[in-house]
Amino acid sequence: MTTTLITGASSGIGEEFARQLAARGDDLLLIARSEDRLIALCNELGRASGVKCQHFALDLSGEGACRVLFEEARSRGLEVSTLVNNAGFGSMGEFASLDLSRELNMIELNVGALVELTHLFLAGMRERGEGAIINVASTAAFQPVPFMATYAATKAFVLSFSEALWEENRERGVKILALCPGVTETNFFAAGEMQKPPMRGVQTPREVVGAALGALEQNRSHVISGWLNYAQTQAQRLVSRSFVARFIGKTMRKQRSEVRG
Ligand SMILES: NC(=O)c1ccc[n+]([C@@H]2O[C@H](COP(=O)([O-])OP(=O)(O)OC[C@H]3O[C@@H](n4cnc5c(N)ncnc54)[C@H](OP(=O)(O)O)[C@@H]3O)[C@@H](O)[C@H]2O)c1
Repeated sequence: MTTTLITGASSGIGEEFARQLAARGDDLLLIARSEDRLIALCNELGRASGVKCQHFALDLSGEGACRVLFEEARSRGLEVSTLVNNAGFGSMGEFASLDLSRELNMIELNVGALVELTHLFLAGMRERGEGAIINVASTAAFQPVPFMATYAATKAFVLSFSEALWEENRERGVKILALCPGVTETNFFAAGEMQKPPMRGVQTPREVVGAALGALEQNRSHVISGWLNYAQTQAQRLVSRSFVARFIGKTMRKQRSEVRG
């Protein structure tokens, strides 16, 4: 049975992927740690869209977790035709003062699990000559972000990795897309105990997922959701990288001092 696997489906962008993909008729396998939320969402989508929605509660940053998920999908007889690598979190603060184990855990989830799941499920897609992988990056992928250094670096990895795989696989029938949202109304900032930047152009998960599915249809390598986010990422290409790092650092410092009062 062909199935769409979505990681981080218990809230925010992942939950919205589940809603929009169920509406287009995809059967789903939803992953996150919060089992109660996955059960509620599966029940709702099964009733509303008539799709088969299954869940598997798992911490994807745990040792061997991705292999466990791969075997679980196989034992349920599921053929994963679309993989949405969405689970991720961030942190904010001066790198030297942040908890190192949490920074390393972020790399394990945002990068390690994404790479492992891509490798595990891509093989079957290439054999079948069809499939799609959406990797959720961020506009933070386009430049260094002082005070969110590790997070931005994980997303730069996701963007570069996905674009390379897009080229490797586009003639094998497998679409690879890096989705780059800007600030989006989700649980992301609360989950990472981060100050939400006072930004214009904040998007809804619905807009972000709509942009992703449109771009996937066109087999694009990446998409920046929202015209303001697009304009910001393009404008900084005109100035030096050190200028961009200093400019963002200044903005983040100002924001942090305002919070402290
Ligand atoms: N919101 C933004 O402004 C923004 C902007 C750019 C990119 N993004 C990216 O968008 C993606 C989705 O984030 P979101 O904004 O939708 O935030 P969110 O509402 O906090 O969703 C994060 C999802 O990841 C899951 N998750 C976290 N740690 C996990 C783990 N160890 N194992 C399995 N699942 C885990 C969470 O579920 P559980 O807690 O139940 O495990 C949740 O379902 C992330 O990759 C994020 O970096 C967000």
